[in-house]
Amino acid sequence: MSHTVFLLASTRESGQVGNTEWLARRAAAQLPPDKRQTWLSLAHLQLPAFVDQRHTVGSYPPPEGDLRAVLDATLDATDLVLVAPVYWFSFPSPLKTVLDHWSAWLRVPDLDFKARMASKRLWLITTSGDRAKAQPMIDSTALCAAFLGMPLAGVLWGKGGPPDAVQADAEALAAADRLFGCSA
Ligand SMILES: Cc1cc2nc3c(=O)[nH]c(=O)nc-3n(C[C@H](O)[C@H](O)[C@H](O)COP(=O)(O)O)c2cc1C
Repeated sequence: MSHTVFLLASTRESGQVGNTEWLARRAAAQLPPDKRQTWLSLAHLQLPAFVDQRHTVGSYPPPEGDLRAVLDATLDATDLVLVAPVYWFSFPSPLKTVLDHWSAWLRVPDLDFKARMASKRLWLITTSGDRAKAQPMIDSTALCAAFLGMPLAGVLWGKGGPPDAVQADAEALAAADRLFGCSA
């Protein structure tokens, strides 16, 4: 069964809906109602820092707590949507932390993370001050997808700024309405 998991990476305070989440929710409104959706706000979870023990211990135990919840949702997803504003031309740190943990999950015995990720589609929804500043993040996302053998199914960019700014980007709104159209 189709399960779309949205990893929200904005660090806006609890209760505030940022531009990127707003755009993602606009896109998600086009998903068929019987398709499962999970939304995880990474900045509001307790995510431990990644420790590089690839060349010492060489493996990692399965994660616990909130990080386990992120892993479980990721593995259960058919579609993984990174909902990430551009911070310094790159991913916000909560999402970068999760991506770094992918390097651990590749080394959890019997998890088979890489092969399981290859069966999922990756998506990116982002906002920033202007489109050119999002290019490094878009390129990073494409390279992450390629590394794990995941198709990058779609990229949506909108012009952000203060909360609600993206609502004035008519092109982004139209693209949001089309984004998941081909994935039903
Ligand atoms: C820490 C930080 C770094 C940012 N860096 C950039 C940047 O490099 N380029 C850019 O165009 N906008 C940058 N912005 C602006 C955000 O990308 C923009 O306001 C975005 O719409 C915020 O998304 P949100 O409302 O979903 O939180 C930055 C904002 C923050 C808070």
